[in-house]
Amino acid sequence: MKFLKSTMILASLVAVTAPALAQGDVITARRDGLKGVARHMEGIKAVVDQRGDPRGTGMAIADMIRFFEGFPARFPAGSGSGETRALPTIWTDRAGFEAANGNMVTQLRALQTAANAGDQTAFGAAFQQTGATCGACHRPYRGPAR
Ligand code: HEC
Repeated sequence: MKFLKSTMILASLVAVTAPALAQGDVITARRDGLKGVARHMEGIKAVVDQRGDPRGTGMAIADMIRFFEGFPARFPAGSGSGETRALPTIWTDRAGFEAANGNMVTQLRALQTAANAGDQTAFGAAFQQTGATCGACHRPYRGPAR
């Protein structure tokens, strides 16, 4: 019991100090994740452009859904400075940021539905809408490249 207690105290200490020490890692990890998202989108665009079978894109879409479900948590307080394009509005308008992210997840689910249906026309339209949904978050919450 005593051992359990000290382990718990240790675990909570790690939880408290880790973010303060590792903001650079948090930024690097979220940027790497976003580069992965961009690669998925390029792969899907090729399928749309070539009018390929959208059913082959299911894994990439599922991967993006997983990523965006955990996306807001990748912006802890204090991770807005350093090697990042994250704008302060992410923290001053957190509700708006989370709403933009929620729209992303919803839109990706719509893309997934169109992919599963194997309907090229619906898939192409959903893909366009998906790109627009990325932009709808970038405009207010992402700064210029630097
Ligand atoms: C809810 C907001 C939000 C959504 C939705 C979103 N992004 Fe972003 N994106 C950001 C923010 C904020 C940054 C800046 C991150 C940083 O620099 O720390 C960013 C950065 C990026 C980067 C630059 C990564 C780098 O550092 O090189 C790429 C690429 C990118 N996003 C692609 C996308 C694509 C593609 C989508 C849609 C499928 C998307 N994003 C959707 C907020 C969003």
